[in-house]
Amino acid sequence: MYKIPFNRLSLAGNELRYISQAIEYGQVSGDGVFSKKCQTLLEEVLHVPKVLLTTSCTHALEMAALVLGIRPRDEVIIPSFTFVSTVNAFVLRGAHPVFIDIRPDTLNLDEAQLDHHITPHTKAIVPVHYGGVGCEMDTILEIAENHNTVVVEDNAHGLFAKYKGKYLGTFGCLATQSFHETKNFSCGEGGALLINDAQYIERSEIIREKGTNRSRFLRGQEDKYTWVDIGSSYLPSDILAAFLYAQLESQDTIQSKRRRIWEYYYLHLQEWARSHHVRLPIVPSHCEQSYHMFYLLMPSLKQRQALIKHLKSRGILSVFHYLPLHLSKMGRHFGGKQGDCPVTEDVSDRLLRLPFYNNLDEGTQKLVVDAISEFDGE
Ligand SMILES: Cc1ncc(COP(=O)(O)O)c(C=O)c1O
Repeated sequence: MYKIPFNRLSLAGNELRYISQAIEYGQVSGDGVFSKKCQTLLEEVLHVPKVLLTTSCTHALEMAALVLGIRPRDEVIIPSFTFVSTVNAFVLRGAHPVFIDIRPDTLNLDEAQLDHHITPHTKAIVPVHYGGVGCEMDTILEIAENHNTVVVEDNAHGLFAKYKGKYLGTFGCLATQSFHETKNFSCGEGGALLINDAQYIERSEIIREKGTNRSRFLRGQEDKYTWVDIGSSYLPSDILAAFLYAQLESQDTIQSKRRRIWEYYYLHLQEWARSHHVRLPIVPSHCEQSYHMFYLLMPSLKQRQALIKHLKSRGILSVFHYLPLHLSKMGRHFGGKQGDCPVTEDVSDRLLRLPFYNNLDEGTQKLVVDAISEFDGE
């Protein structure tokens, strides 16, 4: 239906070859050859002590909540402007979500509001690096330390992005990645748990292996494996890991393609945005972003909807993003009400994301830019 989709699968090159290899090796369940290759690559590039592939970022977040031992009535601070999995993972353990507003510039958790939201019951702060632009990690970590609580980074958007020269996903004691098909690096559905604090490695392995010490057994550290803790099955098949490895090994190519796409939009929409009171993304100079998405902040909800319609009439799919979690049915159940997070409420109405995928070529992008430039605001 759409000539230009919002997202399109883009192969890096070796996906099918590696999948065939995985099948030839004969072990296509979790933690096969390609899972280990993906994990090692991420550990080496990011300098993370332990990376575990998971079936999704949602599952990596659920693992984080389990690993931290989140219990009923614990409080977890989460931006209202995020995907439902960021909060649901903790609510599944019985936690009470405390929604915090976002900064108007980066649309990341507003660290200046943290002090008002922290209580003795706060067990974790979960910053989300929106669009792969780093949250103010120095301040967030300092506040967490002062209040004896931990930070779990939801880095679904931000693989290989940096804050003050250090990779996102390496600040919190735990961090999560997504390899869903809309992400820079994908295997359809997939994710990873990054474990920066070594004290959580063993329990993470157990929780990911159905509550057993199978990982130790496979390394020859136990002569049999058995049930030792709670857990579930969070390992992706090695067939998916083979697909993912082909993408991860093309890190430089994929990131430079995405950088070109982002910069093209920025350059060619700047003038139009200025004259139409539209705000383009803001990336602070101390942040190296992941080029995950390109958004427009329209002057009003009405204008946003009109632009979606206008682009649709030209066969272009543009999409809005998160609805404020504190105003969702579940968010209201936890006490959320209109006005709690005014920036989130405002931005959610006005934000529009443009088509963005690795193989989006300049000619196609020009059609999107031309169509936007013809938008008269009605
Ligand atoms: C911020 C954020 N966290 C978590 C997720 C969940 O990722 P997944 O689809 O891999 O479970 C998403 C999904 O896009 C997301 O945007």
